[in-house]
Amino acid sequence: NTRILKVDPSSIHFPPRSHIDGSLPVISDPETERNLLEAARIISVGGDVVAFPTETVYGLGGSSLNNDSVLKIYKAKNRPSDNPLISHVSSIRQLNRKIYNDECEENVLRHIPAIYHILIDKSWPGPLTILLPVSDSSPLSKFITAGQPTFAVRIPANPVARALIALSDTPIAAPSANASTRPSPTLAEHVYHDLEGKIPLILDGGACSVGVESTVIDGLVNPPMLLRPGGFTYEQVLSVGGPEWSQCKVESRKVVAAGETVRTPGMKYKHYSPKALTVLFVPEHSDVSMEQRLLKVKNNMKNHVEHYANGKVKKVGLLTSNRFPINLIEFMQDDIKVIAASLGTCKKDIQCNLFALLRKLDEQDEVDIIFVEGIEEWEEGLAIMNRLHKAAGDHIIPF
Ligand code: TXA
Ligand code: MG
Repeated sequence: NTRILKVDPSSIHFPPRSHIDGSLPVISDPETERNLLEAARIISVGGDVVAFPTETVYGLGGSSLNNDSVLKIYKAKNRPSDNPLISHVSSIRQLNRKIYNDECEENVLRHIPAIYHILIDKSWPGPLTILLPVSDSSPLSKFITAGQPTFAVRIPANPVARALIALSDTPIAAPSANASTRPSPTLAEHVYHDLEGKIPLILDGGACSVGVESTVIDGLVNPPMLLRPGGFTYEQVLSVGGPEWSQCKVESRKVVAAGETVRTPGMKYKHYSPKALTVLFVPEHSDVSMEQRLLKVKNNMKNHVEHYANGKVKKVGLLTSNRFPINLIEFMQDDIKVIAASLGTCKKDIQCNLFALLRKLDEQDEVDIIFVEGIEEWEEGLAIMNRLHKAAGDHIIPF
């Protein structure tokens, strides 16, 4: 009873500056328009939830202003309720109208602290999420913030996402549309796999172009912080954000103890985890030849295969990026089946393919172990390695 409706993102046209003034899109494909209107009604009138594509990952959306909708999101995902949600708006005018109850047309940025102005000018619509203070009179559901004095907000770039938010005329709370702890979905079929029977509708707008979640930044603290690396890189924050952002620090702890208060509560939980044992190989600066280094990698893989699951490993997966040859583990014993795939060689491709390939090896191929070649932690590499570290837990091998 979970329906999937197709929508064509290329048939949705937003006027320039509509992300500021809130003008509605023109939708040239009647089926896309019908399906979007139906999804918008489910959210605004029905108080229910819908999964939809954004440029980062698929989101599971419900009204940010309705407690029941927000509770439905936590329930469908089985998400701990102390992990707050991002609100998505289609325009700054909608943010003012719906979250600040302010219809005034002048000085549209007046509710947003000045420290964010250049950054949102350069990144919205797009994969950057900012924290804003919650006022006492805020109409936001208290379940959005999970007790924090701030809320998170962004304007997504995907036309399906923006049209859904604009047509429902509602700020939409949306975490990634995976079951809690699973890799985030970048295709409608990933959402169906995790949430079938738990939600009424999935809008299928094809593959997500960015492939990892948005970057979450906090400009309300000094120095400003990057809380979660994502689709907008740290280097971009430093270079385009203006003088205050040149001091921006990256939240470096990947996991914290239970019970400890953190500003990005998402850190507390197991994330992005395939069922298979995931082993991450991390490149290091080294004078040793690549041939020697790969020899060590192979020995290490062999050890894992021989000792994991009481030696009963039958299938292993390999995800390569720049340095591992795709046939790296063809040496394995004949009774071990090897499924190898390239994540890509440029960082944008690796980021885009990461979650889908982890899911394929895990859900379709059902491998016992996934070996992943990591990359250097700069530009897209920071978000990619953040997700891979969470998937691998303690199974980190330098090479
Ligand atoms: O790209 C994305 O951001 C996707 C798409 C659907 O937009 N959404 C997403 O949501 O990744 P979610 O819930 O999976 O991740 C939201 C992150 C979490 O790490 C959460 O802890 C953090 O944002 N967050 C939300 N509100 C916060 C707040 N008030 N203070 C600190 N962190 C917050
Ligand atoms: Mg998530």
